[in-house]
Formats: sequence, C-alpha cells, structure tokens
Amino acid sequence: MQIVHTLADLRRALKPAALRAFVPTMGNLHQGHLELMQMARQHVDARVGQGGLTVASIFVNRLQFGPHEDFDTYPRTLENDCALLAANGCDVVFAPSEKDLYPEPQVFKVHPPAELADILEGAFRPGFFVGVSTVVHKLFNIVQPDIAVFGKKDYQQLMVIRRMVQQMALPIEVIGGETRRADDGLALSSRNGYLSADERAEAVQLSTALKGLAAAARADNAAGQLDVSAAEAAAMDALRQRGWAPDYITLRRQHDLSPVSGPCAEPLVVLGAAKLGKTRLIDNLEV
Ligand code: PAF
Repeated sequence: MQIVHTLADLRRALKPAALRAFVPTMGNLHQGHLELMQMARQHVDARVGQGGLTVASIFVNRLQFGPHEDFDTYPRTLENDCALLAANGCDVVFAPSEKDLYPEPQVFKVHPPAELADILEGAFRPGFFVGVSTVVHKLFNIVQPDIAVFGKKDYQQLMVIRRMVQQMALPIEVIGGETRRADDGLALSSRNGYLSADERAEAVQLSTALKGLAAAARADNAAGQLDVSAAEAAAMDALRQRGWAPDYITLRRQHDLSPVSGPCAEPLVVLGAAKLGKTRLIDNLEV
C-alpha cells in the first residue's frame, strides 16, 4: 500500500486502473470504516480482478466543522489508520495536509439544495453539508473514482452525495455500506471515543429510542393510526429523562427525508441526533 500526501504524488500513484474504488474518511478509523474499505476491495476484485485500484483518503475537513465543534480535538491517528487500511484491502492512502487540499481559501463551494441540506443535521450544524459536498466533490475530482463507498450511518450525508453525483453528472457509482454496531447496538463512530465509561454504557439508548419509534411506526402504520409527532415527542422525552439533550428523533421518508404526518406506505427511516454530556451522537434505522 502506498501512502501519499500531495496531489502530485497521488496522481503518480493513481496508475491507470480498470476500475478505481474510493473510500473518503476523516481518519480515526473503526470497524465500520474498515468494512467500507473491504466493500470497495470486493467490488473491484469481483468486477475487474487484478486490474483495479482501491483508494482511501484521510482528511479532517475544517470546512464541515462549526466554530464551536471538535475540529481541533478530532483525533488524528494516521499511522494506526494506515496500518488498518493496509490490512483491509487498500492500495493507496491519500492523506493531504490542509495546505495541499486547500492551498488557498476554498471560495468556490458546493451548495446542496436547502430541502435536503438545511434539515436535520444541516439545521443543527449550519454549513455542514456545504463543507462535506465541497470536499467530497474536490476529492472526487482528484481521485476520479468509478465507485465511491459511504456509510449509511451518515444517512443524510449519503443522500446529499448521491444527489450531488446525479445533479453534477459525475460518472461515479455511489454505494452505501450498512452501519456497523457494537454488541450492545451502539452505532460505531469515531466520536464514541469521547464518551466516558458511564456515557458509553448509556450511549446505546439512542439506538434503543430509534428502535422504539420504528416499532411504533410499523405497528401504528399497519393499524392506520400513525400519530408521528406524538411518537417523536415521546422518544425525545424518554431520552431527556435519562439526561440526554436530543436535537431530533424523527420519522422520515427514505427517498427524500421529508416528514411523515400520518400512515404512509413508502419506505421510512427513523433518524436521531442527541448529545450525551459533551458528545453528539447520530444514528438511524430503516423501517
Ligand atoms: O463521513 C465522513 O467521514 C466525512 O464527512 C467525509 C465524507 C470523509 C467528508 O469529509
């Protein structure tokens, strides 16, 4: 596996390949990321065998962090990340410095549509999806992948990227990898490392709340009496009573994340974000 830090070195490392698969990350990798890397490898090997190339990027993207968020403290664990990527099918790691990726302030930015990017995560993290879309578009231009793999854990992010690829006619197939969970059900996240031991034990309650809302939605939907706001409010209250500060726990349509107001035959998803102590966790569950 090659590790490169500059655009010029990356271009040299990106030998012509029959198929190029890409996994963008911010590093501090966990098993969920490694499974995305394995998926990338499997797609390449299954489609073109030896002629393919897998690329991962590691870059903590300042543009997607708000002024009071954890950009400065976000763990940078490059050496360990590279060892994990090498063991999980990665051919090339691109780990640029900020100066390499943003040699000058990035004044051209990708602005996803408000109906997708200013709701849910975008409402609580203004500018987040502009930052994500801009860096992902830039990384796509640099790496020029045929396939890109993103985790479903960041459900809204995956949707924004899919829409960007479709709207900008980027010749990239976007693949979503299932959320990897710990044994107790907590979705793996780089930010789980911020949790104290007590918080870690409590953290699973977010996915428990989502499971409860999903079950209520399924049952009430089947009975034709779905009171979504009451079910969402009850799930948020239950978390508040345990000491959480929920931003949202909500039932949405899978295809565009628009709200549901009553019984609905379309595929649905429950999404949640809540703070436990100083750590903000997100999760989702397809219904
Ligand atoms: O999901 C992430 O880790 C980041 O948002 C991404 C896609 C690597 C862009 O910085």
